[in-house]
Amino acid sequence: MRVYLNGEFVDISQARIPIDDRGFLFGDAVYEVIHLYGDLLFAWDLHIERLRFGLQALEFPPVDLDALRQAADELKRDRNFEEGSLYIQISRGVHPRSHLFPPEGTAPTVVMWIRPVEPVSRELLAEGVRVITVPDDRWAKVWIKTVGLLPNVLAKQKAHRQGAYEAIFVRDGVVTEASSANVFIVRGGVLRTAPETNYILPGITREVTLRLARALNLPMELRPFTPDEMYTAEEAFLTGTNIGILPVTTVDGRYLGKPGPVTRRLLEAFWAETKVSSRLG
Ligand code: PDD
Repeated sequence: MRVYLNGEFVDISQARIPIDDRGFLFGDAVYEVIHLYGDLLFAWDLHIERLRFGLQALEFPPVDLDALRQAADELKRDRNFEEGSLYIQISRGVHPRSHLFPPEGTAPTVVMWIRPVEPVSRELLAEGVRVITVPDDRWAKVWIKTVGLLPNVLAKQKAHRQGAYEAIFVRDGVVTEASSANVFIVRGGVLRTAPETNYILPGITREVTLRLARALNLPMELRPFTPDEMYTAEEAFLTGTNIGILPVTTVDGRYLGKPGPVTRRLLEAFWAETKVSSRLG
């Protein structure tokens, strides 16, 4: 497997990052995950725009993001699978450990690779997944996609231990998002998700889903909801790069029912965008 590392393509066994890399020492790095549907790097431009915002917010030196596209196309040439996941990580570079930013001229570390992923199974789509709620104990700038994901890791592991697929974060009594996805419900026939604030990641799949919902003339609201409202929702689903749109059918042990009509319509519309044939029975 080839990896892109600071402008070069190397075999993964040769790809080495120094121990003084700030991504390793401080989590001082941003990342993106982009799904590969066949040959299509889905929503590349939106992901790169979010990466640019993150780099600016953290005051990173300029990074040539256009060069990343050429490198991604080169990595894609190795592809021998249907669906893949492209990972980009950019850290503030390598410098002896100090909380202060490294001196001007320190080059960011840029890495990128593609790995195959199993498409979401028909069973999961037909049955939906169970989720649990957990307190949102993350920092207040989760809109920046940094690699500092420890609270997300702990939340996801907790969900897994309880036989659930995802953990849904609750802050100040309302649902923000999941450990690696955004969260939608349908209640009173209206599609709802939390509005963009610094307490959620502005998910690209969330954005695409909202656009598809608008095109389908589905009633919708960008308004937070409580766990109680989620327990009594008609439908619920997660959105994220790895999962696309994934129906949620059980929340903290309350069963909502089989994946409903709004979720199914959005799934079909999403597959049309990503040129995937329908996986609903
Ligand atoms: N995570 N919220 C969080 C906290 C996330 O980590 C993610 C994605 C999302 C969904 O965003 P998008 O639709 O742009 O993928 C929401 C990625 C996939 C990950 O960390 O692997």
